[in-house]
Amino acid sequence: MKVALVGCGSRHQMFRNALTGPYADRHELVALCDSNPYRLSLSAAAVAKPGTNGIATYLSADFDRMLAEQGADTVLISTPDNTHAGYIVRALEAGCDVICEKPMTIDLPSLRQILAAQDRTGRKVRVAFNYRYAPARQQIRALLAAGTIGTVTGLDFRWHLDQVHGSDYFRRWHRDKANSGGLFVHKATHHFDLMNWWLGTTPAAISASGGRHAYSPVRAAELGLVGHGPRCTGCPVALRCPYPLDLDADKRLAALYRDAEAEDGYHRDQCIFSPEITLEDTLQAQIRFANGATANYSLTAYAPWEGLEVMFYGTGGQLSHRHVEVHGVFGGKRPKEKQSVTTTLHLAGQDPTNLAVPKAQGDHGGADPLMLQDIFGEGGSETHASDHRAGAWSILAGIAANAALASGQVEEIGDLLAQVGIARI
Ligand SMILES: NC(=O)c1ccc[n+]([C@@H]2O[C@H](COP(=O)([O-])OP(=O)(O)OC[C@H]3O[C@@H](n4cnc5c(N)ncnc54)[C@H](O)[C@@H]3O)[C@@H](O)[C@H]2O)c1
Repeated sequence: MKVALVGCGSRHQMFRNALTGPYADRHELVALCDSNPYRLSLSAAAVAKPGTNGIATYLSADFDRMLAEQGADTVLISTPDNTHAGYIVRALEAGCDVICEKPMTIDLPSLRQILAAQDRTGRKVRVAFNYRYAPARQQIRALLAAGTIGTVTGLDFRWHLDQVHGSDYFRRWHRDKANSGGLFVHKATHHFDLMNWWLGTTPAAISASGGRHAYSPVRAAELGLVGHGPRCTGCPVALRCPYPLDLDADKRLAALYRDAEAEDGYHRDQCIFSPEITLEDTLQAQIRFANGATANYSLTAYAPWEGLEVMFYGTGGQLSHRHVEVHGVFGGKRPKEKQSVTTTLHLAGQDPTNLAVPKAQGDHGGADPLMLQDIFGEGGSETHASDHRAGAWSILAGIAANAALASGQVEEIGDLLAQVGIARI
């Protein structure tokens, strides 16, 4: 592949380093692109080879020129979520394949544009669903597919973000649902993708409820933080705040965001209690799938621990999975609970058995390195890769859940698709 990478923030480093490191003999990173000139040059400097002219860099306004000049055949997108669709469509129209960070996009009109462009061009879109690659999740899929607990009739799925990780979404561009689709899209796209992939089905209807409780002006008042500033930097109550972020105390944060502020005015440490935030921190939904199975889903962004709990109900038994997942985020003190994964099989008439769970090293339960190997290495796996259709289905539950939050009604996904003229996925 000749890869052009757009979006040079935190997440892109994993892809950039893979392309210029272990997979450099198979692929070429031909150019970098970003709207922020500082972050763009920072990334270019990190991969410049001594004795060369370095790597080509382009500002976002020159994205199309970059594709034409650099002969890219693949575009890797790691920009904020609301900008994915525009880049996907332009890359496809330029004859490139796309690898896009999750979520593929955040709303129905842009989804329609992506599907139409993919249909027109026939090029490939792949969404980077790293969670599929964790060996523990693959084990679950294999057990369910083998009929170990009979027909899967439903599941309870709970995702807990701890206070360090959860609060961070309220500081960054994610805090405006217009940028991220809210946590029902931005975060839950992973979870809905796992459900679709585990059950081999797609969501059909959803009801939802939620709100903003822990990171709200009311909570700021309860904590005695009245008079807080618009950001942690210079905040008059920072010393009393339980959620401070000191951009200058972490070299990575300072380099990526503080030093780049002057270019675009983006502040990485905006106040998590600001009234203008539109993100919910508490979300629940009930989902009906096309195959008749049902799910209860819950996401909280202020839990005392971080991880996943899921219980599958089958006609022959239950399968439960609990993963305490402490992966790297910036700032704050994390809870002490150590990483652990437990998967328990309980068949009707038998005692529950804790299964031996396969492990892998690396971020997101060992998923990230395995995903990189699958994307860039030899012999990729069709079973775990996710295309534009999987990308679409993974956001449709969240988009419908947002609609259900607004309407207070059960939202049928088929009706929502029909309203925007999407005839098939
Ligand atoms: N799969 C995962 O586990 C995972 C983890 C983290 C982030 N992500 C995804 O990666 C993407 C990037 O997130 P991040 O944490 O790196 O954010 P970030 O804010 O650190 O970086 C975003 C970068 O995009 C640039 N940018 C903003 N608007 C742009 C535009 N219109 N054109 C070009 N560049 C633009 C910014 O200047 C910045 O450098 C998001 O879609 C996010 O959902 C996925």
